[in-house]
Amino acid sequence: MQHIHNKSLLSFMVPNEKQGIAVTNPATGEMIGYAPISSEQSILDGIERASIAQKEWSAMPAKSRAALLHKWYQLLLENKQDLARLMTLEQGKPLAEAQGEVVYGASFIEWFAEEAKRTYGETIPAPSADKRLVTIKQPVGVACAITPWNFPIAMITRKAGPALAAGCSFVVKPSESTPLSAFAVAELAYQAGIPRDVLQVVLGESSRQVGGIFTSHPLIRKVSFTGSTQVGSILMQQSAHDVKRTSMELGGNAPFIVFDDADIDEAVAGAMASKFRNAGQTCVCANRFYVHSKVYDEFVAKFDAAVQQLKVGNGLEEGVTIGPVVSESAKQNIQALIDGAVEQGAEPVSELKALDGLFMQPVILKNVTHDMAIVSQEIFGPVAPIIRFETDEELIEMANDTIYGLASYFYSQNIHRVWKIAEALEYGMVGINEGLISTEVAPFGGVKQSGIGREGAKQGIDEYMDVKYLCFGGNK
Ligand code: SIN
Repeated sequence: MQHIHNKSLLSFMVPNEKQGIAVTNPATGEMIGYAPISSEQSILDGIERASIAQKEWSAMPAKSRAALLHKWYQLLLENKQDLARLMTLEQGKPLAEAQGEVVYGASFIEWFAEEAKRTYGETIPAPSADKRLVTIKQPVGVACAITPWNFPIAMITRKAGPALAAGCSFVVKPSESTPLSAFAVAELAYQAGIPRDVLQVVLGESSRQVGGIFTSHPLIRKVSFTGSTQVGSILMQQSAHDVKRTSMELGGNAPFIVFDDADIDEAVAGAMASKFRNAGQTCVCANRFYVHSKVYDEFVAKFDAAVQQLKVGNGLEEGVTIGPVVSESAKQNIQALIDGAVEQGAEPVSELKALDGLFMQPVILKNVTHDMAIVSQEIFGPVAPIIRFETDEELIEMANDTIYGLASYFYSQNIHRVWKIAEALEYGMVGINEGLISTEVAPFGGVKQSGIGREGAKQGIDEYMDVKYLCFGGNK
């Protein structure tokens, strides 16, 4: 770890597998270091301490909590290079993308530092003269989160920011594949003055074990999860027994639509950004492309020319734009979807090359039909299946024909069509002539089986607050 300059970021690391979990570099297979594992008892003790600390934390003026969050934000930015390098080492994404994620992740801390001061209640006109009605907002208590490997920092800060700003304490279990970034960002929070009991990072024996502890513990009042729909649904069921609040950011199957009146060059630029960010491993990645038959050949040719410019490799190397996929089983699943589509008549636009290790050659498949598994399943890899369509009606039906409803994208220059399609798409987020929609200032979240709740924006903090209604009677 000689390339990490601020050694305090690594102070959490443990020396061997007796005390920790080994983290490897997906680009090389090399072991990077050991992240600490907590016993069940110490996780339970941590939750008790989080509950005690939350009382004091929430009693602080919002302005004081905001000041500590601002400090944390500054430290995240000051340590951008080290955090990005650590992320590339354990996650594999290209260094420039990792730097972008540190800034993106930090933006949620800055945003919610500001929102902490704006958790306004309301006065309500009373139905009778003797009453005065008011609402106030209060933190839910101890919140917990389970976060994924694809955005090792941003998916933590997008939850920790609003939780801490609201006055909750927060216990997070990061992915076992990418825990180093999580512990490092927490270390900076402590350096900023956020108490260790208010923000805790824990790894247990397994995700299932920690998920079980979080969802069964009576002191946990909120469970937030980013990951698969299947696991999200289990966590919701487990959280139901004592009616915990939940926020779920789950799977996606984003359609990317190109109408015949689209600016094709812009559509290609948007497709590249949306499809190949993080090697196609984001919940909001374009999963399937629908292109009008009049512009199909032009779009495919230009898209392929852009894909040929991508460089696959170790994210620490200069010029690399596509890192490895997360695991051997992920690679096999992606390959099986490609093979199944090709068997059913899809055609790779350029030669399919098998790469070593966890690397995959980005590929466009043409002549794909809407009934193929590659269209209905979340690919989570650098593959772009392209389907031809003729009418808006047929297109809307195909685009909405999924259990998911997270992100969607379309390109058109016709204002009437833009409104019609934006309203017809059954998704929580719609990119219109835009392939990158994520920002801390807008509400991120899905409909249908893509989840419930919103992250970021002014809505994000409400996920960690209860509304309390106060009725003042006896007004003479
Ligand atoms: C995700 O893949 O879940 C997050 C992507 C984003 O925040 O843009």
